[in-house]
Amino acid sequence: MSGLRIVSTGRYIPEKCITNDDMKRFVDTSDEWIRSRTGIVTRYHADGEKTYEMATKAAKKALEGAKISYDDISLCIVATVSGDYATPSVACMVQRELSLREDIPVFDINAACSGFIYALGVCDRMLDEGENALIIGCERLSKILDFTDRSTCVLFGDGAGAAVVKKEKNGIFYSLMGATGNKEALFVGGVNEEESYVHMNGAEVFRFATGAIEKGIKRILEKANMSEDDIDMFVCHQANARIISHVQRRMHLPKEKMFMNLQKYGNTSGASIPIALDELFEQKLVKEGMKIIAVGFGGGLTWGSCLMEL
Ligand code: ACO
Repeated sequence: MSGLRIVSTGRYIPEKCITNDDMKRFVDTSDEWIRSRTGIVTRYHADGEKTYEMATKAAKKALEGAKISYDDISLCIVATVSGDYATPSVACMVQRELSLREDIPVFDINAACSGFIYALGVCDRMLDEGENALIIGCERLSKILDFTDRSTCVLFGDGAGAAVVKKEKNGIFYSLMGATGNKEALFVGGVNEEESYVHMNGAEVFRFATGAIEKGIKRILEKANMSEDDIDMFVCHQANARIISHVQRRMHLPKEKMFMNLQKYGNTSGASIPIALDELFEQKLVKEGMKIIAVGFGGGLTWGSCLMEL
């Protein structure tokens, strides 16, 4: 059986760090409220940088680590809901910046915070054995935040994560993707919409998110015929510490296997999982041969999970 394996990862976080106290400049909030309700301490905002520029920087780092020629990339997918233009896609702009081959598919996926998981799933179905792909999650959410709405603007941050993946003969990779069309729980207006900001029903998203993670983990384990004990690390979309802790307790998963870095970056939507993967490798929390489950959930409403051997 062949499946995707991660060859290398990279991330790019913009320089401008925004603390919870900094958020008080925009809205009536407090460090205590944000920390206790979400776990978030800081987030980063792009300062004039475009989404594709952040994506390109993360991609370069991943490609450096992969030690392959850019011509060895057979597919480039960017997961994003905050691209710079309706067209060209962020992926096409990255292709231009990196001079990737012109005979390969290059496109964006919009599955909100599940985008990177969707991109991996699509990639696994598209690649032939031996081929490499560049998969990026990148968001500049600060441009679609309403800085007068305290219930949303404190939650999100900007950033990019990237992975070079290869379809290998003995790679262990399973993926699931699902969606329930819903505009009420989480909505961002399109380019011509007046209300082109994030709108969210926090309680509804909380319920959906916890259910989606639980479903994502249980169903992927069933598909792979494995149990929780076979998994070395669970990498959930980094939206809110309470969402992750709730699932950890409900499913009796070991706390130390639930990776969390949202305290630093806030919710970076499609970028959160590749940024988390890059930190996992950097901090040597995982090594070759380990198995991880990654789960995404977000606007759409979408969800997805994948199980892979590193
Ligand atoms: N600072 C201070 N007070 C605030 C803030 C803030 N930043 N935001 C909201 N409040 C107030 C509200 O106005 C409300 O005040 P009121 O009672 O006077 O009306 C009070 O805090 C409680 O509001 P709730 O919405 O009930 O707060 P809750 O405890 O539910 O926490 C939260 C809100 C954190 C959004 C929660 O619902 C949640 O975790 N939802 C999950 C949503 C999420 O994480 N989304 C991430 C993006 S979506 C995604 O990634 C898929």
